[in-house]
Amino acid sequence: CGIVGYTGTQKESAPILLKGLEKLEYRGYDSAGVFIPNQDSTGDELVRQKGRVADLEALVAEKNVNGKAGIAHTRWATHGEPAVKNSHPQYSEDEKFYLVHNGVIENFMELKKQYLSDVTFQSDTDTEVAVQLISKFAREDNLSTFDAFKKAISLFGDSAYGFLLMDQAEPERMYVAKRKSPLLIGVGADFNVVTSDAVAMLDETHDFIELLDGEVAIIDPKAIQLFNEQGDRVEREPFHLDIDASETDKGIYPYYMLKEVDEQPVVMHRLMERYFDEQGNVLIGKAILDEINAADRVYIIAAGTSYHAGLAGARLFEQWANKPTSVYISSEFAYEQPLLSEKPFFIFLSQSGETADSREVLQNINEAGYHSLTLTNVEKSTLWREATYALPLLAGPEIAVASTKAYVAQVTLESILAYALADNQDLNLMEELSNIAVAIQAIVDDKETFKNVADAMLVPASTHSAFYIGRGVDSTVALEAALKLKEISYVQAEGFAAGELKHGTLALIEEGTPVMALITQPKTAGLVRGNLSETTARGAHPYTIVSKSLAKEGDGYILPDVDPLLAPLVEVIPTQLLAYYTSLGRGLDVDRPRNLAKSVTVQ
Ligand code: G6P
Repeated sequence: CGIVGYTGTQKESAPILLKGLEKLEYRGYDSAGVFIPNQDSTGDELVRQKGRVADLEALVAEKNVNGKAGIAHTRWATHGEPAVKNSHPQYSEDEKFYLVHNGVIENFMELKKQYLSDVTFQSDTDTEVAVQLISKFAREDNLSTFDAFKKAISLFGDSAYGFLLMDQAEPERMYVAKRKSPLLIGVGADFNVVTSDAVAMLDETHDFIELLDGEVAIIDPKAIQLFNEQGDRVEREPFHLDIDASETDKGIYPYYMLKEVDEQPVVMHRLMERYFDEQGNVLIGKAILDEINAADRVYIIAAGTSYHAGLAGARLFEQWANKPTSVYISSEFAYEQPLLSEKPFFIFLSQSGETADSREVLQNINEAGYHSLTLTNVEKSTLWREATYALPLLAGPEIAVASTKAYVAQVTLESILAYALADNQDLNLMEELSNIAVAIQAIVDDKETFKNVADAMLVPASTHSAFYIGRGVDSTVALEAALKLKEISYVQAEGFAAGELKHGTLALIEEGTPVMALITQPKTAGLVRGNLSETTARGAHPYTIVSKSLAKEGDGYILPDVDPLLAPLVEVIPTQLLAYYTSLGRGLDVDRPRNLAKSVTVQ
């Protein structure tokens, strides 16, 4: 979901809000809407639409909407199917209050029964319950809009919300509240904005004030009043976000994903510049290294692609730094915490820094008094702020839902950390990473090869399923490769530890099933080839992605040789491109796969 709001004295709000929604499209959504209150008696406008922001834009243009303030939203359905009636803004029965919301109000059914049995509802959403409550409290308890808003919020317990509210009688003012779901206030000379993602408002401002959980604010064109949970005024200076707005444009690329795949060598150079001095010594704060050194086990917590980056990184911590390391899916760890070692240290991996599942874990371990480090692409994000330490991934805005450069940045930064922790460093990591950046460049320059392989093996409608197999660290890349293929091409794909295939999964192999083998580990290369033959003997269509020194005649794609534990950085690239060309070949929207969101701020 995405939220944008604007209130100013000069410009029309509609184009700014719609542009903002377009910038948020990448996060995944299924409907969109905008509310622009009456400021010059042309009538309030609520415009909502199922589907694309472009369709909403056309409707807004038709209605000739004008006004200098407004709120807008892209919705990713949680309660209630994607439909106009369920899209935001939701409004009160008396059409006085308009509300957009990210998050989930967990007790909305109870609140509806308890307070709102006399109200006719027009949607199935939890958000409508919130706006009807505000209206009821304003009316019946004779409360100001701000007090009615706060009273409603006080009933939502620990639910997640980012709220932006307008009262149609105060057409210049926005009310804001936040818990768990991210919201920022953007500051301008004669205007202010609110957004769930800075990217949406970079054309207007680069100065943002972060809202903390439980805070509420009243926003006018020239004033921001911020209050903490206890109702006290809070003053907070804005921080300046140093992102070039053009970094969020596609430029010459047909899809963000392709642009982001191509950016990976640059991302690696950026990381090297930041984290190494000229002699190749690592520049990471001593406090972080001391804490990890003192720990008896590192726990890596993450979701999705970041989890896969954690699986690859764990080998580096164990084999280079001799540090026992466990990797957990955050949504699992949050509710079934394993027995912890005596002196644990936690590393959170997250592109967005906002994933609710990971945050739940961070809050738990903060309460328990443990220390942590977040590696994230978004500075000042929630996981950044709430961990003991944070280091930036420096990948630049990642817009495509399918994560690519964040994975490479995470594995690279994990390798730098593990290297800094290692006692004897035979390898010159800086040199090796620059070789890898060159290798990645060569692979991304080879796009035609992957297009052809995808067209032959994965695009045909007869391909319903596919497998990636590998051993050791390659098995972790197999998981990521399969996820990438599934999420954007909808081909049922599985990543497997190659040796495990024969214990059940082999039953799925049919005539022509694509099986892609990842072979970069000298120890197990022969075994993986053996496992691959077990599939071809049963009709599978094989393709190998192999390190040069392990290559044989007839292999599919030959990768340059790199340190085996860093192989994920190179071998993942062909799999990203195979997923991309499969999605493209199947005529799908590569950047915006169905049902998915870029940053999942609900549990
Ligand atoms: C979503 C995205 C994935 C991402 C995962 C974790 O599901 O679609 O691409 O890997 O969240 O996100 P994070 O921002 O914490 O890395």
